[in-house]
Amino acid sequence: MRERRLIFPDVERLSVYAARQWAARAAAAVAARGRFLVVLAGGETPRRLYVRLAQARFRRPLPWAQTILFWGDERMVSATDAGSNYGQARQEWLDQVSLPAENIRRIRGELSAESAAQLYAEELRQSAEPGRAWPVFDLVLLGLGTDGHTASLFPGPISAAEQTQPTLAVTAHYADRPTERVTLTPPVFNDAREVWVLAAGENKAEIVARVWSGEFNPEEWPIQRIRPKNGQLLWLVDAAAAGRHPQG
Ligand code: 6PG
Repeated sequence: MRERRLIFPDVERLSVYAARQWAARAAAAVAARGRFLVVLAGGETPRRLYVRLAQARFRRPLPWAQTILFWGDERMVSATDAGSNYGQARQEWLDQVSLPAENIRRIRGELSAESAAQLYAEELRQSAEPGRAWPVFDLVLLGLGTDGHTASLFPGPISAAEQTQPTLAVTAHYADRPTERVTLTPPVFNDAREVWVLAAGENKAEIVARVWSGEFNPEEWPIQRIRPKNGQLLWLVDAAAAGRHPQG
C-alpha cells in the first residue's frame, strides 16, 4: 500500500485542493477508460468538498456524463431525510450539476438494510468489469469518525462477511445519527485506484494521532482496515485534526 498524508491550514484549503485533484482524476480516468467511477462518503468534511464541486469554476469543466457516483455507506432513512447521505449530496451539489440520473447509483435507504445491501451488491456487480463482483473504483472518498470508524465500518471484531461480501447491513450507534445502515466493505474499498480519507476539526485530533501512531489495531480503529492493494491511500487533513500528531 502507498500512503501519503497532506495537512492543510484549514478545511477550505483542503476542499479546494480536493476539488482540483478530483478534476485531475476525472480527466485521467475518462481519457484512460471512458468513465470516472467514484464512491462518495457522508459526513461533514466530504460535504465541504461537494459544496466546492458545485461551484461554477469546478462544475463547468468536469466530465459529468462520464462520472458515475456510488456511496460507501447509507443510513436507512428516506432520501429526503436530513440523515440521508444521498440526500445530503443531492442538496449540496447533485441538483446543480448536469449528471445523468442513471449515473447516480445510490443505496436505497428507504428499504430494510438487508434488502438494500443485497440490491446494492447486485448493482455493484452490474457496474463491474466482466467477471468481477464490483468495479475497480477510480476514487473512494471516506470520512473518519472520532471513534475511528469509516463508512459504516465500526469498532469491534471483524466478521467473515466483512472480509468476503461487497455490502453489509449494519446497526451502529454514533452521535445522534440513524443507527440502521448499509456499508461497502474493505475488499471493495481496497481494490480502488485511490482512496482519500478526509478529516477536519479539533475533535478528530485524538483519533488521527492514534491511527497515525504506528500502532496497527484495525478492530478498534476501522479506518486501518483500509489498505488499497495496488492504489494509494491519501489523507487530506486540516491542521486542527493533525494537531496532536508530530507531523501536524
Ligand atoms: C456516515 C459516514 C461516516 C462519516 C464519519 C465522519 O454515513 O456517517 O459515511 O463514515 O464519514 O462519521 O463524519 P463527520 O465528518 O461528520 O465527522
